[in-house]
Amino acid sequence: MWGGRFTEPMDPRLDRLNRSLPVDGRLWREDLETNRAWVHALEGVGVLTGDERVRLLAGLDAVAEQLAAGAADDAADEDIHSLLERLLGEVVGPLAGKLHTGRSRNDQVATDLRLWTMGALDRLDGALAALGLALIAQARGGLDVLMPSYTHTQRAQPVRFAHWALAHAWALVRDRARGAGARARASVLPLGSGAIAGSGFAVDREALASRLGFAAVSANSIDAVGDRDFTLEAVFAATVAGMHLSRLAEDLVLFSSAEFGFVVLAEPFTTGSSLMPQKRNPDSLELVRAKAGHLLGRLVAMTATLKAMPSGYQKDLQENNAALFDALDGALAATELMEGVVAGLQLRPGRMASALDAATLATDLADLVVQAGRPFREAHGLVGALVRKAEELGVAIDRVPTGEAAKVDPAFPDLLSRLGGPGAAVERRRVAGGTARTAVLEQLDAAAAAFKP
Ligand code: ARG
Repeated sequence: MWGGRFTEPMDPRLDRLNRSLPVDGRLWREDLETNRAWVHALEGVGVLTGDERVRLLAGLDAVAEQLAAGAADDAADEDIHSLLERLLGEVVGPLAGKLHTGRSRNDQVATDLRLWTMGALDRLDGALAALGLALIAQARGGLDVLMPSYTHTQRAQPVRFAHWALAHAWALVRDRARGAGARARASVLPLGSGAIAGSGFAVDREALASRLGFAAVSANSIDAVGDRDFTLEAVFAATVAGMHLSRLAEDLVLFSSAEFGFVVLAEPFTTGSSLMPQKRNPDSLELVRAKAGHLLGRLVAMTATLKAMPSGYQKDLQENNAALFDALDGALAATELMEGVVAGLQLRPGRMASALDAATLATDLADLVVQAGRPFREAHGLVGALVRKAEELGVAIDRVPTGEAAKVDPAFPDLLSRLGGPGAAVERRRVAGGTARTAVLEQLDAAAAAFKP
């Protein structure tokens, strides 16, 4: 491919690091597309005749069949571009040598990678949407199931299970928007930039862009061949989504433990222990949690590699491709797995209810004190004193004997009688984004609209 000025073969130690076919072989579909588009571009500038265009496109179809059958698997070629060129030559003969006119592997790989990244972001978006819909379905089922919410992993205030499920769904709405933004910025065509200074042939780049599905053409050939911002943005979007999945996983590890017992994970998403016969472990959730760490590692590695480079193309760029593929593959697999886990969750409303001790109503009691005309800071102190009294007596705050409660403050016996249970507490929060049934139903509608296919 480039041996003309060389007299000696490549040292095998360089070949081992340089040969990228095992990594970029997966770009064969994208590389075929860019090759097909380039055939048309070259015909447009008179480098190819109509007859040559027909023969090359037929040749590329034959190569596509070979690649689909696994031709890249154990080939010895340097990368997907050189493999494709060789296979095409075997089909159409020396005519294949015309196809590399006015282009470089530099603008080719940048174009292939953008196409692949756009496709990968689409696949991730589909999986995030499916997970969001699974959370919404669980929210519908858990609309009237009450549980404690937690801050600092300590019981805080009563919420509907739906409210918890939708909290995770909203994070996915933002993830999808981030992915869509990354995809839009990836949709810029580098092809026609050549190795660095632009193609020597005045190809119609707008036509290339629309043939390949790009929204725009790059404005600067130096930038176009060396720019991998779109890979960082895609991996960042995947990393934030992975972080969200990890937080959901962490909630579910706790909630599915015997100590909480709020949910049961479906068997197909758990594993047993080789030693302890009773065990059923939440490995799905642990693997998803671990993926988030690895995603962040890929993002850091890729950014560090890019920051070392002068402008234009350098081989460092090739090294990032494995990280890009690994990150987006991992994010997709984790998201698809979480969809299964969430869809299979079984709720245990009785366990959630029994975790709602009266202390989770302390804020509501303080609010009642405020409604009786006292400043909130004072109310907070009074309810705090009542909680201490309840602890001394070993009872719940709503079971402190009337006489004792009145000693803390004369208003308490009346306020305690109006406190109500967790159901009253969630209904008091009719504010938008709150826990009242009407507020959560509105939220459900908005979330369902955000995930509408
Ligand atoms: N395999 C290379 C890559 O993925 C293709 C570009 C090679 N360009 C070069 N100037 N050697 O980056």
